[in-house]
Amino acid sequence: MTSERRTFAIISHPDAGKTTLTEKLLLTGGAIHLAGEVKARGQARRARSDWMKIEQQRGISVTSSVMTFEREGITFNLLDTPGHEDFSEDTYRTLTAVDSAIMVIDAAKGIEPQTRKLFEVCRLRSVPIITFVNKVDREGRPVFELLDEIADMLALDVSPQAYPVGMGGEFEGVLDFETGCVARPEGPSKEFNGKRDCDPAIPDRFAEEIELAQIGYPEFDLDAYRNGDLTPVYFGSALKSFGVTELIEAIAKYAPPPRPQPAGEDTVGPDHDEVTGFIFKVQANMDPNHRDRIAFMRQVSGTFKRGMKLTPSGLGKPIAIHSPILFFAQDRELADTAHPGDIIGIPNHGTLRVGDTLSERNELRFTGLPNFAPEILRRVQLADPTKTKQLRKALDDLSEEGVIQVFYPEIGAQWIIGVVGQLQLEVLVARLDAEYKVKAHLEASPFATARWIKGDEKAVEEFEKFNRANLAKDRDGDTVFMAKSPWDVNYQQEKNPGLTFSSTKER
Ligand code: G4P
Repeated sequence: MTSERRTFAIISHPDAGKTTLTEKLLLTGGAIHLAGEVKARGQARRARSDWMKIEQQRGISVTSSVMTFEREGITFNLLDTPGHEDFSEDTYRTLTAVDSAIMVIDAAKGIEPQTRKLFEVCRLRSVPIITFVNKVDREGRPVFELLDEIADMLALDVSPQAYPVGMGGEFEGVLDFETGCVARPEGPSKEFNGKRDCDPAIPDRFAEEIELAQIGYPEFDLDAYRNGDLTPVYFGSALKSFGVTELIEAIAKYAPPPRPQPAGEDTVGPDHDEVTGFIFKVQANMDPNHRDRIAFMRQVSGTFKRGMKLTPSGLGKPIAIHSPILFFAQDRELADTAHPGDIIGIPNHGTLRVGDTLSERNELRFTGLPNFAPEILRRVQLADPTKTKQLRKALDDLSEEGVIQVFYPEIGAQWIIGVVGQLQLEVLVARLDAEYKVKAHLEASPFATARWIKGDEKAVEEFEKFNRANLAKDRDGDTVFMAKSPWDVNYQQEKNPGLTFSSTKER
């Protein structure tokens, strides 16, 4: 069962085509049964704007968080990584729950900042990556330039698996290296409708390039890919359906089945007979008057059955999971059984937190689920100063839930909150008001980023003595260096070689 699962995410910069590709993958996998693309796009757009609206009211649509579809005996779990204005720590965390990722790159733009950030998160856990260079139906940058940019900027071997025969006005299709067939555009819209030319006549200048692409780059190597050292590169057009089937097939063929998860010194593999999993994301429910939450558990091992009792790490007593949610594209369905690699939504009242491990029998804690240094820091300013206590409670709650991170400066009374994406700030202010009756606003903070300090006790103490004005404690009481700029971090790192200034922290 397990080997037939692929749990993955798509990483990209906004506008590269993630939504379009997601739809096409779901269509190819048969998960969306809609008459035409226009309708599918309309639906996606509606879904997106709904999401924004609801998120503002501080609930979130959970339906698009996990999309499950089956194709040729393989179950694909596609985890959504919000990548637009709604970019947040959730996006990073979701990547801790996948076994592989597709990196979508716009052929005209190459590697963009958000792609790079998300890539770095994948690299932390050696998540293998398949690259999809999108929009080859339009003018794009030269293929070799793109390949070299991926290799250089990401320090990764690239192994092209396909080649666009021309781009934009010259676009004649995409050659698949494995079959030697060219997927040809058809009709006035120049889409791919399944027509493959397996005895293609290719203009000389493309033929030369193709040869170079095949001999000038490393051959595909499954181990190197699975270690995260090499990425196979596909070319296509999500909009016109080029390369989508090849991409699904590549995931089926190469992407790893559910991986073992580290738990301190040990690892727990999918074959372990006990049910285990970890929470990588918690979402507040739609109704602002309820404290209902849905915790997303990535199952690591065992066969989960509805009604089963699992013990969350740190809680000590088991909870029965009567109404788990399994995700099937647009619908949510009640799960009866789930397997390693699957995602289960567990309704709860705040018992389950991001980073928690759940297990059937034995006390266990999975590791490798870090917090990420925030990139946006703000000071919280109370409208009514008598509400300090409520504010602290709210910030503690919300940081445990993973909505924000909170830092209590060693000097001064103004607390600082940190987020990865702008939208989290709006969610914070709205939730403080709605749930905690605390009116607050956020103002600029003198700090640009935060780093967790590690090192031997003496060295840390020494550092603390001289940098009090730039130190804070996080929710767990760990010391954090608040930096005014990235330069500041580098400077301190050079000055204090015995310490590490870490941009991630494990709970
Ligand atoms: P995102 O989720 O990564 O942000 O990207 P999304 O799929 O929304 O695509 C961004 C824009 O790029 C959309 O155009 C989409 O139609 C277009 N696009 C996606 N894939 C391709 C492709 O393979 N070829 C071409 N030519 N365009 C592509 P838009 O103008 O924002 O929306 P729309 O009005 O075209 O729907």
